[in-house]
Amino acid sequence: MARLRVGVLISGRGSNLQALIDAAATPAYPAEIALVISNRLEAQGLQRAAQAGVPHEAIPARDRAAFAAAADAALRRHRIELIALAGFMRLLDTGFVEAWQDRMVNIHPSLLPAFPGLHPQRQALLAGARFSGCTVHFVRPEMDTGPIIAQAVVPVRDDDDEERLAARILAAEHQLYPLAVRLYAEGRLRIGGNRVTVAGGMTADIAALNPAA
Ligand code: GRF
Repeated sequence: MARLRVGVLISGRGSNLQALIDAAATPAYPAEIALVISNRLEAQGLQRAAQAGVPHEAIPARDRAAFAAAADAALRRHRIELIALAGFMRLLDTGFVEAWQDRMVNIHPSLLPAFPGLHPQRQALLAGARFSGCTVHFVRPEMDTGPIIAQAVVPVRDDDDEERLAARILAAEHQLYPLAVRLYAEGRLRIGGNRVTVAGGMTADIAALNPAA
């Protein structure tokens, strides 16, 4: 069966992109990374794409609408079916978000709706949260909102600083994102208002990321 064609939008390091590339290296994985777009020329993720033989483009447009037009054209040219934002640090044009409604997902390093926006790990520490984690969700025009597909919980330890907590959350992100994209690629996600249900139930591997589930 044809694999789902995923386009990944990045701005920097690209470790989540790498996790998706690594997952897709297994032929049985139902999605392939068919295009990587960066809004920054120097993004390390572009090198990861090159190394993996994935088509990649930098679109360093200053203007939001110009970026959206160029990105949209590239995504359509490469017949992309799902956009995965992975450390894409720029607000997207509303028309672009609407055009890709329910076909664009994002990963955020907190348990949304807690701690949206910048520095969510710092926010979790400042709030004294005992648990944080990461969220994969469908993208809506308002930043870090949208129906939640899957989450993974990590503990916040007494001696954590921002860096240690971020590293623990990032390790969970690298597991969660490929699993969530798999659910989408398998056609198992149903969106009803703000809620997503998973046909056949949440998978054991996602439940395993959340010991309380
Ligand atoms: C991740 O923590 C992601 O959740 C957030 O930005 C970071 C990107 O890291 N949106 P990387 O570029 O995937 O390494």
